[in-house]
Amino acid sequence: LLSTPNCHIKELEQLSQRLNHNEEIADAISNQNVMGLLKVYISSELSRISGIEADKIFKSIQWNSNLEDSDLVLPLPRLGKQIDKPNILAEKWAKAFPTNDYIQQIEFKGPFLKFFVSPKFLFKSVIPHINATREFYGFRKLQSKKKALVEFSSPNIAKPFHAGHLRSTIIGGFLSNLYHAMGWEVIRMNYLGDWGKQFGLLAVGYYKYGNKDLLKSDPIHHLFDVYVKVNKDKEQEIREAVPVTESIDHKAKQFFRKMESGDVEALKLWQTFRSLSIEKYIQTYSRLNIQFDIYSGESQVPREIIQRALEMFKTKNLLEESDGATLIDLTKFNKKLGKTIIKKTDGTTLYLTRDVGAAIDRYEKYHFDKMIYVIATQQDLYVSQLFETIKQLGFKWANNLEHVNFGMVKGMSTRKGTVVFLDNILEEAKQKVLATMQRDQVKYSRVEHPEKIADIIGVSAVMIQDMQSKRINNYEFEWNRMLSFEGDTGPYLQYTHSRLHSIANNHIHLNACSPNFDLLVENEAVLLIRLLAQYPDVLVKAMRTQEPCTVVTYLFKVAHQVSSCYTTLWVTGQPQNTAVARLALYNAARQVISNGMRLLGLTPVNRM
Ligand code: ARG
Repeated sequence: LLSTPNCHIKELEQLSQRLNHNEEIADAISNQNVMGLLKVYISSELSRISGIEADKIFKSIQWNSNLEDSDLVLPLPRLGKQIDKPNILAEKWAKAFPTNDYIQQIEFKGPFLKFFVSPKFLFKSVIPHINATREFYGFRKLQSKKKALVEFSSPNIAKPFHAGHLRSTIIGGFLSNLYHAMGWEVIRMNYLGDWGKQFGLLAVGYYKYGNKDLLKSDPIHHLFDVYVKVNKDKEQEIREAVPVTESIDHKAKQFFRKMESGDVEALKLWQTFRSLSIEKYIQTYSRLNIQFDIYSGESQVPREIIQRALEMFKTKNLLEESDGATLIDLTKFNKKLGKTIIKKTDGTTLYLTRDVGAAIDRYEKYHFDKMIYVIATQQDLYVSQLFETIKQLGFKWANNLEHVNFGMVKGMSTRKGTVVFLDNILEEAKQKVLATMQRDQVKYSRVEHPEKIADIIGVSAVMIQDMQSKRINNYEFEWNRMLSFEGDTGPYLQYTHSRLHSIANNHIHLNACSPNFDLLVENEAVLLIRLLAQYPDVLVKAMRTQEPCTVVTYLFKVAHQVSSCYTTLWVTGQPQNTAVARLALYNAARQVISNGMRLLGLTPVNRM
């Protein structure tokens, strides 16, 4: 083997040149993904031995999640029908496959071929690769013509930011980061609930109960208070049989009609509500490391486009009249979808119609290759109706729409009450972490910005709890469990990162020395490097599953392996060359954990 690290990768690359490159293979090569390159190498060797196309082999090789067992596995039956007597072939091929500096051992078991990558090769190629790519380790090069529009969070102005919005925010933030890391151009869009009759009611309420200063300082809560109060009044009036023309309801309708007809005064007030709320949202989202490129919303769909969509419904013969309302019968295309109303008796358009218009508008503006809607599973039917409607209008890009759904959160509340707002949840998490930190006064006094650190750790707790299991699962919001520093929690991940950081920090003088990886022989170290080598493939897998837990589960595996290393792989008090090699491994682990955390939307802390 050549002696400089990048040459290891280069050599592997050269061995793979003789392959006919399909897209995936070309991708592994151009991104220097070590495990990917090894898969390419195995495919080309095995193709030579077996006569089966390398492409096919490449697609069938899987990585083993149980690393004690091997790094890569090839289940022969996956190669297709031409494989006769796979058990016998597995044995034959295993014996013919050369062992060398890359693959140190091949085993066969039943119809499976198992490949053990040489740890030495991994140390020498992966650690320098991580050092060279740093925060971009695992990223793929920018791919031309891949643009994703991710719509997520999408709360409603003057209403609570509930658990559904929280999950959409967290998952959408992660997906945006993931697509970005995979070389896509990403547009992050917030589609606010900022239009509709309720804004007439809110305005009437504001004239009655509103307070300019409160609106400025705390628009989200203030508007909600006003909205709750005026709603109560409205109900009271109904009980007291107040004449229609004098009623709040009547005034609200009048106000909204003014908004719809473009009345300057009415729109000015509404605009104030909207922009002050957005200002506040921006602050809260930044605690979660999220920046939207576009604050769109129901109000922003151009009338002209909605009109165009309605015309198209007509020309495509999709419309039916029923009791004055206009609807589309989607059962013609899919029994489960039912009928959906497009226009109400009074001629006003509906949520779905606006959503259709919004989609057309977005396609015309951004020409996305994919548009993702991150919306709770309660709205599965609605989203299917939306997608089907767009498809029936004949838009080809309807096939590029994707619904990423998720289950419910139960019991999300703060000490003060049942109505939740995002910033209250984050504030409470922060206060609880701060209280825990203060229990150890000595340590606490050494933390530089305790409030800020507490906030970051609190946010991590909330986010990891959310991303820990499959999206579709419901979960119980549990303060004690998520904030615990033990078990698989956000604070534990932060603790792992900060401990690795302090190891590096305590041995700064060693960081410049070049490591001799031959000194890393312990089994713990080998398991760790094999995990670190997988990170780029973990992202590829996450791209397939669209699941944050694919990354979260992986990060906890790394964290546990790091913690098993601590018992045997000491740095302090060791001979310098041993210390340098181990430190290089720990630094690589810190980088990978940091990258994974950032991808999830967390800010890794260096001290806590
Ligand atoms: N504002 C809606 C709600 O709170 C979510 C919007 C989802 N996005 C969409 N394009 N319909 O339920």
